[in-house]
Amino acid sequence: MTSRQPESTLTLRQRAEEKFKTGGVTSKVLSAEEIDQLVHELQVHQIELEIQNEELRHIQHDLETVKNRYFDLYDLAPVAYLTLSGLGLIMEANITAATLFRTTRKELLNKPVTNFILPEDQGSYYLYRKQVIEGNESHGCELRMVRADGSSFWAYKHAMSVQDGEYLVTLTDITRIKQTEEELRRAKIEAEAATVAKSHFLANMSHEIRTPMNAIIGVIQLLEMADLPQEQREDLAMAKKAGLDLVRLINDILELSKIEAHKVELEISRFNLKNEIADIIKLLSLQAREKGLELTCSIAPDVPTALKGDAGRLRQIIINLVGNAIKFTHAGSVELQIRKDAENADTATIRFIVRDSGIGIAADKQRLIFEPFTQADSSTIRKYGGTGLGLTISKRFAELMGGHTGVESTEGKGSTFWFTVMMEKQPG
Ligand SMILES: Nc1ncnc2c1ncn2[C@@H]1O[C@H](COP(=O)(O)OP(=O)(O)O)[C@@H](O)[C@H]1O
Ligand SMILES: [Mg+2]
Repeated sequence: MTSRQPESTLTLRQRAEEKFKTGGVTSKVLSAEEIDQLVHELQVHQIELEIQNEELRHIQHDLETVKNRYFDLYDLAPVAYLTLSGLGLIMEANITAATLFRTTRKELLNKPVTNFILPEDQGSYYLYRKQVIEGNESHGCELRMVRADGSSFWAYKHAMSVQDGEYLVTLTDITRIKQTEEELRRAKIEAEAATVAKSHFLANMSHEIRTPMNAIIGVIQLLEMADLPQEQREDLAMAKKAGLDLVRLINDILELSKIEAHKVELEISRFNLKNEIADIIKLLSLQAREKGLELTCSIAPDVPTALKGDAGRLRQIIINLVGNAIKFTHAGSVELQIRKDAENADTATIRFIVRDSGIGIAADKQRLIFEPFTQADSSTIRKYGGTGLGLTISKRFAELMGGHTGVESTEGKGSTFWFTVMMEKQPG
């Protein structure tokens, strides 16, 4: 402030002090000129003081504004604030807190905070409080609290130690979130129960359909043995093919519904991988030859072949993948490669790779085809038949056997499907 005083004021002060020191103004009669001068300087000084007063008033007003803004922020914050003493008494509360508890601020003050916590949740409160006091809790806790009117609500409580052993507590009403959580949990349980019920229904239905289908095919086979004219033989062959397709479809649906209902159990037995693969290749090479395709197979020398596992399901995955490769390839070759991914004393992870030079799959469809009843495009069923269940079942079987599945493909060039399984090794 001193630096902003005009020169004249300093001069006046110095001169007045000087005058008091040397006997004061009273002891000396001033000339009229000196009095005029002094009055002038006093007036200047008074103006200066008024300016300073005005500045102080501004500063005070600013402080008041900041203070009010602080209280507005505190009082109307979207969360409730409570200041608790070390013993858990409510020392301060904002308006939001009073509104949350449907009471006045006065009614909250000097009461233990536990008065507002549901008895069942006081245990959690004390546990949380202990953690905060020990300084090892940075998260909040969820509690049910009680309002003045007796109703309760879910609160997220967060406490922070402030000065003088007091705690600043924030409370957020999370009742709606809790309700949504509960609804979602219930909906999930219901949906899961519905899926299981649906799978049971499918399993029963498929079973019911399969039994008469087997009888129908049996009768067709008997009729085939009879001496029939050519035309009727052709009709019978058609009926038999349709019947067998239907049985295949029903078997797939049955299999999938069993997987979905978590009812599939692996059938573990000892088998030799080389023999198993030789059988499969023999079976499939007929189809490949009919289409003029070359079908090759190689097993890396380090792959253990004396294994223990579900050979039937392994065979099913390979037949699905190689069958697809043959189905979706018009010229060129289909190759089955078997490699070892990992091995330890008891188990081996084996990778099966099926490569073809067929129609390929668009990049955006490559993930979808592993979903039930999905084919790469709507014309597939017309051109190639099928139901879109083979890959789904293969994927689930590989997962059941501790493995994964995947595909890399370029449209028009070919596809590479792979899967892994973990098998037990037969003891040496
Ligand atoms: N090797 C392949 N080459 C091209 N497309 C394939 C191949 N394998 C599978 N697909 C695509 O994935 C879809 C799903 O296969 P899948 O589940 O075995 O059902 P489906 O053979 O009954 O159609 C097929 O319809 C086809 O569109
Ligand atoms: Mg298929």
